Amino acid sequence: MTRLFRRPCGKAPSWSFFAFWLLCSLALADRPPAVAVASAHPLATEAGLEILRQGGNAFDAAVAVSAALAVVEPYGSGLGGGGFWLLHRAADGREVMIDGRERAPLAAGRDLYLDDGGEVVPRLSIDGPLAAAIPGEPAALAHIARRYGLLPLERSLAPAIRLAREGFEVDEHYRRMAAWRLEVIRRYPKTAAIFLDEGEVPQLGHRIVQPELARTLERLAKAGREGFYDGPVARRLVASVRAAGGIWSLEDLRQYRVVERKPVVGHFAGHRIVSASPPSSGGVVLVEMLNMLTEAGWRSLQGVDRVHLLVEVMRRAYLDRARYLGDPDQVEMPLDRLLSREHALRWVATIDPHHATPSSVLAEPEPEGTDTTHFSILDAEGNRVAATLSINYPFGSGFVAGGTGVLLNDEMDDFSAKPGVPNVYGLVGGEANAIAPGKRMLSSMTPTFIESSERVAILGTPGGSRIITMVLLAVLEAVEGQPVAQWVSRPRFHHQYLPDQMQLEPGALTEPVKEELGRRGHHLRQLDRSWGNMQAIHWDRRTGRVSAASDPRGAGSASTVAVENLH
Ligand code: GLY
Repeated sequence: MTRLFRRPCGKAPSWSFFAFWLLCSLALADRPPAVAVASAHPLATEAGLEILRQGGNAFDAAVAVSAALAVVEPYGSGLGGGGFWLLHRAADGREVMIDGRERAPLAAGRDLYLDDGGEVVPRLSIDGPLAAAIPGEPAALAHIARRYGLLPLERSLAPAIRLAREGFEVDEHYRRMAAWRLEVIRRYPKTAAIFLDEGEVPQLGHRIVQPELARTLERLAKAGREGFYDGPVARRLVASVRAAGGIWSLEDLRQYRVVERKPVVGHFAGHRIVSASPPSSGGVVLVEMLNMLTEAGWRSLQGVDRVHLLVEVMRRAYLDRARYLGDPDQVEMPLDRLLSREHALRWVATIDPHHATPSSVLAEPEPEGTDTTHFSILDAEGNRVAATLSINYPFGSGFVAGGTGVLLNDEMDDFSAKPGVPNVYGLVGGEANAIAPGKRMLSSMTPTFIESSERVAILGTPGGSRIITMVLLAVLEAVEGQPVAQWVSRPRFHHQYLPDQMQLEPGALTEPVKEELGRRGHHLRQLDRSWGNMQAIHWDRRTGRVSAASDPRGAGSASTVAVENLH
């Protein structure tokens, strides 16, 4: 032990040396007994484990899982989309959010989706290449591999390249998503040739093979970022987008940069909450809701009283989302105020414990998307990744850029097409989220860590504007000591300020609770289908046990492997 303190020159150790030694010792003492990967597709989970077995760390595995999902979950995320990768590096405790969110093309103006009369043109920001923003995922994967990984990109992308070349089998979820977007997929022959079978939704077990995507992945593996944003892939992307009515330029691709951002941090029930920062609204809205719950004394409330409080808290935080949040590089946001205890107290003071507050008396709006994907990873060092990735709607814009195999996003719909006016889904957005050249659109993606001396949790989910409330409900399960399977499976309810309605999954609440909420003035909307696809990992530091769970609503898989069985 004493030798550790002695420097080669024999002088007394400096404080920085001591701090470094302490940090390393703590990191060594705090290692999980197992690694874990939870993702929305078994083949992506397997890709992550394959890379961990080859000696990669959680960051290499995150690259592998992201790329595999781009191949086998084409409706959820992909090289043509973007996302947020929340990283925790165990060796030095560094936590960072890799912002690979798409950017509006430089030629995009605030009126891009309005007609001559100033009205929003339906579906223009959803279907086809004009809906596509400049992708961030390829740049993010190259960045994560170079800055945080141990393996070359060629190794971490290898499973995805293999899956693209050899194909994967269509499952029920694929069929549902393809049926939902059948019209737009059929509109673009390249897309239909890859994702349909003779123009129809493929049967179960049909193989989707993507040789062009495999070649694009190979270029990325070989040349890194430039393999996508420059050279032949970039030229093909731009030419085919423009030929089909889009507005991308080579300069858009050349200018695209990943940004490293400081995550949002909050404290709740003895736990530290680390989550996504703008341009996602996720962390801010989540921490605002948790702050309000703390100030309102949520623990003392049970049953309908707790549900009522949760809905009122959701309503208020989503109002702030609509009013204030946007791209931090282009919009001034009062984040300190929104995340303060005083702000939570002010909001809590407006909550009537016996009556719903009509959203109309609070004010303003918000936008949403519907599909997306999430995965969580923990490695043997305690490195961790929570990543939520998206191309927005299922199968994005429906447009595959010629010769690249890359299905483009329709993330432009996450902007407010016309601030203050409802978008095509009856939702409205704020001025802070108006379209501007090169701007990142506001997101709801909420990759999150929960940490305390008792536990480390890694979680997140797809689900458009409902993402943040799903993560909120899971945080409550976690801090109350429920098993991880319960975090991902619990029935969900949601309120997003506007429309002023409380949305319920089947079986979310009992009839007496619903009746009482109705009496208190809540507008209940019972939906006949569920939402979300949460992927979560729990490392219980008291028992040393690592467990992982994949949402039973989806077709994903969660695996843990004891460290001694890894190699
Ligand atoms: N496209 C979904 C989101 O970013 O919130």
